[in-house]
Amino acid sequence: YVIGVDLGTSAVKLLLVNKSGEVVKEVSKDYPLIQEKTGYSEQNPEDWVRQTVAGLKQLVTEWNGDASSIEGLSFSGQMHGLVLLNDRKEVLRNAILWNDTRTTAQCQEIYEKVGKERFIEITKNLALEGFTLPKILWVKEHEPEVFANVSTFVLPKDYVRYRLTGALHMDYSDAAGTSLLDIEQKEWSKEICELLGLNVSICPALVDSHENVGKITKEIAEQTGLSDTTDVFAGGADNACGAIGSGILSEGKTFASIGTSGVVLSYEPTGDKDYKGKVHYFNHGEENAFYAMGVTLSAGHSLTWFKNTFAKEQDFNELLDGIGNVPVGSNGLLFTPYLVGERTPHADSQIRASFIGMDSSHTIKDFTRAVLEGITFSLNESIAIFRENGKQIDTIYSIGGGAKNKDWLQMQADIFNAQIVKLKSEQGPGMGAAMLAAYGSGWFASLKECADQFLEDAETYQPIPENVDKYQSLFKLYRDVYKQTTELNQ
Ligand code: XUL
Repeated sequence: YVIGVDLGTSAVKLLLVNKSGEVVKEVSKDYPLIQEKTGYSEQNPEDWVRQTVAGLKQLVTEWNGDASSIEGLSFSGQMHGLVLLNDRKEVLRNAILWNDTRTTAQCQEIYEKVGKERFIEITKNLALEGFTLPKILWVKEHEPEVFANVSTFVLPKDYVRYRLTGALHMDYSDAAGTSLLDIEQKEWSKEICELLGLNVSICPALVDSHENVGKITKEIAEQTGLSDTTDVFAGGADNACGAIGSGILSEGKTFASIGTSGVVLSYEPTGDKDYKGKVHYFNHGEENAFYAMGVTLSAGHSLTWFKNTFAKEQDFNELLDGIGNVPVGSNGLLFTPYLVGERTPHADSQIRASFIGMDSSHTIKDFTRAVLEGITFSLNESIAIFRENGKQIDTIYSIGGGAKNKDWLQMQADIFNAQIVKLKSEQGPGMGAAMLAAYGSGWFASLKECADQFLEDAETYQPIPENVDKYQSLFKLYRDVYKQTTELNQ
């Protein structure tokens, strides 16, 4: 057996997986967000450790099998969060998370001191508020007494792994989201550190995601019931683990994940592709591979907002029931999902959403279909960027909430103009973490081999040419709405 630990933003989810890739036991433990001011989002690293240990104990106890048959454990982690440690590896302040947006001035400072083009050349990404480097600069500027004691920084799952093993590392896939890694060369950027007055020695040792970094300590073994022979493998960023867990392991393989936010992620075999920062470009959890990724900020969030505001009495199934009977284009109604701004392709935190083309004959079903179409158009912006840059995207794995409704799956096939595949059992990043442990433990010669054994396609949806044509015209109109509505939100 292996365990995949998915350290998320609201909870840690733990999966116990057998050699066939079946999840035999699952446990989830939540922890609070600390939001002291608007735009602030923090967590106490001790909460992660406490709940991970409690979760492991519950998993082992309730499963009631032979703990020594659990060979390995690995992690998936929420990306970008800053954990600062002193020279005794003690936590110096709460972690500042990926969804904290206090660092606009620091992003500006990065462009001024490094130069925007040079910065994108090295890190392959824009300087975004959510990423780690601007958070480090924020602490340096606003909490100099804390910064003076910083010996090293890590990301959320790295800290939990350290507490479980006593060994401190960061893997390339998560380091890619710090804005301090030279993505292609796979090394910390001394240039960026120097230009921003940071000592490169605060950056931790880098490892591959499947690398064995040690064993569970005796204390953790006692606290959880795990054997102290359990090997620990580094693990990866949640998006990288999501990619592994849905088999995105060769050129052209792509997933569209619709959760609160939406992600379109596509495999990249090399680190030299130049998207000019239009999409994220990160190191994969598979060694020496990469992935490109676009983000829709309000994907499922748009649907939840719509339901809570206009159809509170219905559940999601009722709300979505019958949207397949509404024609393509929702009888002339168009929605843009910019409720909290947009990341890809606009990187615009000011833009806001719109419904356009309302007619007095429209019903709640037209509106619901328009919301789904708007979310899917937004994801299609990322796919369009991939295709404009020469990627061939014929098949897209649909995962998350967007894969739960047949009409929405068909809509994705028609809007993306690609075959949509749904996995038989989808466990997301936690499965990717378990697969890293399985591969690291030597069960398979490669992650691809592991995916062949662990993952199975269940349903496919083919694009319907007539719908594809209609959606291609509508997508042009959808894109125009952004330009036409920016002034409203200045
Ligand atoms: C990726 C990002 C989020 C977090 C969520 O850039 O900010 O997907 O990884 O955990």
